[in-house]
Amino acid sequence: MKRMLSGIKPTGQLTLGNYIGALRNFVKYQDEYEMYVFIANLHCITEYQEPLQLSKNLTDAIALYLACGLDPKKSTIFLQTDVKAHAELGYIMACNTYLGELNRMTQFKDKTAKNEKNLTAGLYTYPCLMAADILLYNADYVPVGDDQKQHVELTRDIAQRFNNKYGKTFKVPEPLIAKVGARIMSLSDPSKKMSKSDETNKGCIYLLDDLKVARKKIMSAVTDSVGIIQLDKENQPGLYNLIEIASSLTDRSMNDIVDEFAGQGYGKLKTYVADVVCAELEKIQNKYHDIINTHLLDEIMSEGAKKANLIAEQTLKNVENKIGLKIKY
Ligand code: AMP
Ligand code: TRP
Repeated sequence: MKRMLSGIKPTGQLTLGNYIGALRNFVKYQDEYEMYVFIANLHCITEYQEPLQLSKNLTDAIALYLACGLDPKKSTIFLQTDVKAHAELGYIMACNTYLGELNRMTQFKDKTAKNEKNLTAGLYTYPCLMAADILLYNADYVPVGDDQKQHVELTRDIAQRFNNKYGKTFKVPEPLIAKVGARIMSLSDPSKKMSKSDETNKGCIYLLDDLKVARKKIMSAVTDSVGIIQLDKENQPGLYNLIEIASSLTDRSMNDIVDEFAGQGYGKLKTYVADVVCAELEKIQNKYHDIINTHLLDEIMSEGAKKANLIAEQTLKNVENKIGLKIKY
């Protein structure tokens, strides 16, 4: 069975973008692949997080993983800091990554372009830790949204370079990006990715949003003045995004949805999209509430950490030997 690994960085509440671009796919894949899914809590602190809020977000994220259908019998679910090998291999990966490579990472470039103050060294070297996350488990595939493709490609470069220098050590992983839903856009500005750092809060739907609030965000989503329901991503990006959201959640093709609503007003289509999204959120939220106050989470996470540690420690030991870090005594 091929192995798959992915992580989510819950700096805030998980969004519909996380669900469509990542989580939902993990659930689909867990039957066919040996699945490892982790909460990237070390990645969260590349930017300051209020500690109590961070801790709550981590717990919520685990409960939401389960509520979205990740099954601990099929998938190994764990917290990054429960497996200490991530931090050590992350450092080793940083020693095998060139400054030029990190300077080319668009996520980092975007942040520096905005002239944000107090950017940390952790944020800069984040792709090295991400490479370690993946390579520790010898994953064949890494299912991610479009924004993470560049980081997985860097992981491949680092793995290949390491293998050339020290002899075959790592499996070189491939990114797996869904054809539909890999980049869900903001509802208030369809030129931007739907993101938990949305300042206005209108463009982003959170998995735990009140259903009325979620519906309102969709009904007031920015569209265009063309007035025709069709697929024109360039000129009607807001409309395209709404159709893509509905298509991802229903597994209907985008064309099929266009055919149903062609010739009608945008309001009708928005109502349909809102119905689809709210039905999905309601299912997830009901399960979330069943899970959040049980001891189930502790058990699942400690079981996951045990399984993950077995593989990660073995990889790390092998890497330490290859590099010459070990001495015999
Ligand atoms: P993050 O929340 O940044 O840790 O992202 C976790 C996963 O969700 C990654 O695989 C991202 O690529 C994916 N993701 C985040 N935002 C979106 C979005 N707007 N559309 C599609 N996928 C997304
Ligand atoms: N960098 C990813 C994000 O922000 C989260 C992440 C960390 C990840 N480590 C990973 C995803 C390893 C896939 C594999 O979305």
